Amino acid sequence: MNPELIIVNPSYEEHIALIQLNRPKELNALNLQVMGEIRDALKMLDEDDNVRVIIITGNERAFAAGADIKQMAGKGAIDMLKIDQFSTWDQIRKTKKPIIAAVSGFALGGGCELVMTCDMVVASETAQFGQPEIKIGIMPGAGGTQRLPRAVGKTRAMEMVLTGNFISAEEALKYGLINKVVPTEVYLTEAVRMAKDIARQSPIAVQLAKESVLKAYEMPLQEALSFERKNFYMLFATEDQKEGMNAFVEKRNASFKGQ
Ligand code: HXC
Repeated sequence: MNPELIIVNPSYEEHIALIQLNRPKELNALNLQVMGEIRDALKMLDEDDNVRVIIITGNERAFAAGADIKQMAGKGAIDMLKIDQFSTWDQIRKTKKPIIAAVSGFALGGGCELVMTCDMVVASETAQFGQPEIKIGIMPGAGGTQRLPRAVGKTRAMEMVLTGNFISAEEALKYGLINKVVPTEVYLTEAVRMAKDIARQSPIAVQLAKESVLKAYEMPLQEALSFERKNFYMLFATEDQKEGMNAFVEKRNASFKGQ
């Protein structure tokens, strides 16, 4: 692949890949090309055995200020239907490896929705989150009315979606939208630190655990518990399970191979 609007580094750190959105003049507005490039990069990194965790970031001023308003302004409903941009989002959601969003500056509209599609979020103290679509006469379309209430609760989500007002990184932390707020100089370093903690674990266990946690948002409890149980049993077929448990008994560090 030859992306133009994102930078992809499959070996940013050992077992950690980095995707950086790279449309700084447009505050990383997510046009169709950017979204397609993110989808293709995630697919490639998901298939790369050397990659265990993926970080998505922007720059200090903006993670992403939303879908590209200039690209959408003249479109009609049927144009939007035919473009079918959400099939790209559906693909992104299917990524098996964990994704950490490292956010500084604006994460708005589709940018905030992209953050919520990720599995964990580290933010700089300057980060701002919002669903301002209402201010341009539309509403969120890539999960904002669904993932936001699940993350922050109905009343806060309703306020964000209906007023379009932004919340600060501190508020996002308090509401449970993100994992951490750190000084701007270290938001990416902190995301890498979190990624390293995950990359040390068995990659198969990590993927099945991610899959199981996501089911909490998609299935009724009884079905989700039974799904979890099957993934739990399956891990006893891995060499990593033997290695992990033997290492504990032998009082040494485990070395997981993803087998
Ligand atoms: C296209 C955008 C953009 C966007 C910013 N820009 N956001 N272009 N789409 N979403 C462009 C501006 O036009 C401008 O380009 C340049 O980036 C810098 O932005 P400024 O507005 O000059 O910066 P500032 O005054 O600092 O204000 C920052 C801002 C504001 C508060 C983030 O840009 C803003 O309100 N942006 C729109 C946010 C938004 O409504 N997002 C939701 C989009 S709808 P020029 O060429 O003029 O210098 C959406 C739907 C998702 O996301 C549906 C599912 C995919």
